[in-house]
Amino acid sequence: MFSKLLIVCTVLTLSESLPTTITLSNGQKMPIVGLGTYQATGDVIYESVLNALDVGFRHIDTAYLYDNEKDIGRALKKVFSEGKLKREDVFVVTKLWHTFHSRPLVMEGMKKSLNNLGLDYVDLFLVHFPFGLKEGTNMTTPVDDKGNVLFSDVDYVETWQGMQDVYDKGFTKSIGLSNFNHQQVDRILSMARVKPMVNQVECHPYLNQKQLLDYSTKHDIVLTAYSPLGTGRMLNETKLIEIADKHNVSAAQVLIRYQAQRGIVVIPKATSKKYIAEDYEIFNLNLSDSDMTAIDSLNKNLRYNVVDYAKKHKYYPFNIPY
Ligand SMILES: NC(=O)c1ccc[n+]([C@@H]2O[C@H](COP(=O)([O-])OP(=O)(O)OC[C@H]3O[C@@H](n4cnc5c(N)ncnc54)[C@H](OP(=O)(O)O)[C@@H]3O)[C@@H](O)[C@H]2O)c1
Ligand SMILES: *[C@@H]1O[C@H](CO)[C@@H](O)[C@H](O)[C@H]1NC(C)=O
Ligand SMILES: *[C@@H]1O[C@H](CO)[C@@H](O)[C@H](O)[C@H]1NC(C)=O
Ligand SMILES: *[C@@H]1O[C@H](CO)[C@@H](O)[C@H](O)[C@H]1NC(C)=O
Ligand SMILES: *[C@@H]1O[C@H](CO)[C@@H](O)[C@H](O)[C@H]1NC(C)=O
Repeated sequence: MFSKLLIVCTVLTLSESLPTTITLSNGQKMPIVGLGTYQATGDVIYESVLNALDVGFRHIDTAYLYDNEKDIGRALKKVFSEGKLKREDVFVVTKLWHTFHSRPLVMEGMKKSLNNLGLDYVDLFLVHFPFGLKEGTNMTTPVDDKGNVLFSDVDYVETWQGMQDVYDKGFTKSIGLSNFNHQQVDRILSMARVKPMVNQVECHPYLNQKQLLDYSTKHDIVLTAYSPLGTGRMLNETKLIEIADKHNVSAAQVLIRYQAQRGIVVIPKATSKKYIAEDYEIFNLNLSDSDMTAIDSLNKNLRYNVVDYAKKHKYYPFNIPY
C-alpha cells in the first residue's frame, strides 16, 4: 500500500519537476531519456553516441541484432579513456537475440554482447522478444531452403532462468523483457526469483499502451517506449504540431516529453547532431493536463513493428490487445 502511494505521488509530481532518472524495483537508477540506435551502424552510430553523450544523454539502447555494439563500444571506450565520463555514468542496454533462448545459451548471448561492447557488464539486459528461433545455425534469422523462418519452441520461462543466471553473475545490473504482452509477463512473474525490472515495448500516441502501463505500474515494472516518434511517422500529426507550436518546441520534443511525463523511459533514435540535441532538450518543457489528454486521444492501437514472420509462432505477443 505504502509503495503504491509512493508511485502515485511520483507520477503526480512529475509534471512539476521531471527527474532525469527513474528508480527500478532493485534500486538501480535508469535515465529517463536514452538514445535509440536501431538501423545505424559503423561511424554513423559511433559519432551519434559521442554527440549524444556530449549533449547530456546517459543511456544508450542497443541490441545484438543491431550489429552496432562494437561501434558503440568504441565510442564508450573513447569517452572513458579521455576521462570525460566514467563507466558508471552511462546506462547501457542491450538485448538477447532470438537464437539464444535456451537456458545455457543465454550466457553465451550475454557474453557475445559484452565482448562486442568491450564492457564487463551492461546496466540492463532484455529478452528481445518472447519467441525463439532455431539455435545453433550461424544465421541471425535462420531460414530453410525455401526462405521460411525456422522457429524454436523454447519457452521464454526457461529463457528467464538464463536471465537470472547472468544477473546472479553480475554481467548485468538489471534484467527485463521486451515485446512481452501482459499475459506473458504474468507467466514470468509467477515463476521468477528475480522479477523483471523493465518491459520495453512500442509506444507512441497512436499506440499509447495505457493498459500495459497500468498493469506494469501495478507490478513495479518500468516501461520503456520504443519507436516513440512512431519511427518518425508521427511527426506530421496536426494535433501534435499545434501543441508543439504553442510551447515553441518541435513535435519530436512533445512526443518524448509526453512519455517521460507519464513515467515511461523513452529512447528516440537520431543520428543527426541537430536531432540528437533536440531530443534531449525536453526537461524544461511542461505539458499541461489538457495537452496530455489531447495527445492520449490520438490513440488508435496502430502498431508499426508487427514482425510478420513470427505471427504463427506459439509465443507471438501481439495477438491480444496488450
Ligand atoms: N525492443 C524492440 O523490439 C525495438 C524495436 C524498435 C526499436 N527499438 C529501439 O527504439 C529506438 C527508437 O525507435 P525507432 O528507431 O524505431 O524510431 P523513432 O525513435 O520513433 O524514430 C526515429 C526516426 O525519427 C527521426 N528523428 C529523430 N529525432 C528527430 C527530430 N528531433 N526531428 C525529426 N526527426 C527526428 C530519426 O532520424 P535519423 O534518420 O536522422 O536518425 C529517425 O528517422 C530504436 O532505435 C531502438 O533502439 C526497440
Ligand atoms: C507544470 O505544469 C503544471 C500544471 O499543468 C504546474 O502545476 C507546474 O507548476 C508546472 N511546472 C513548471 C516547472 O512549470
Ligand atoms: C554459414 O554456414 C554455411 C554452411 O555451413 C556457409 O555456407 C555460410 O557461408 C556461413 N555463413 C556465415 C555468415 O558464416
Ligand atoms: C503523415 O504522412 C503520412 C505519409 O507521408 C500520411 O500517410 C499521413 O496521413 C500523414 N498524417 C497526417 C496527420 O497528416
Ligand atoms: C523559440 O525557440 C527558439 C529555438 O529554440 C528560440 O530561438 C526562440 O527565441 C523561441 N521563441 C520564443 C518566443 O520563446
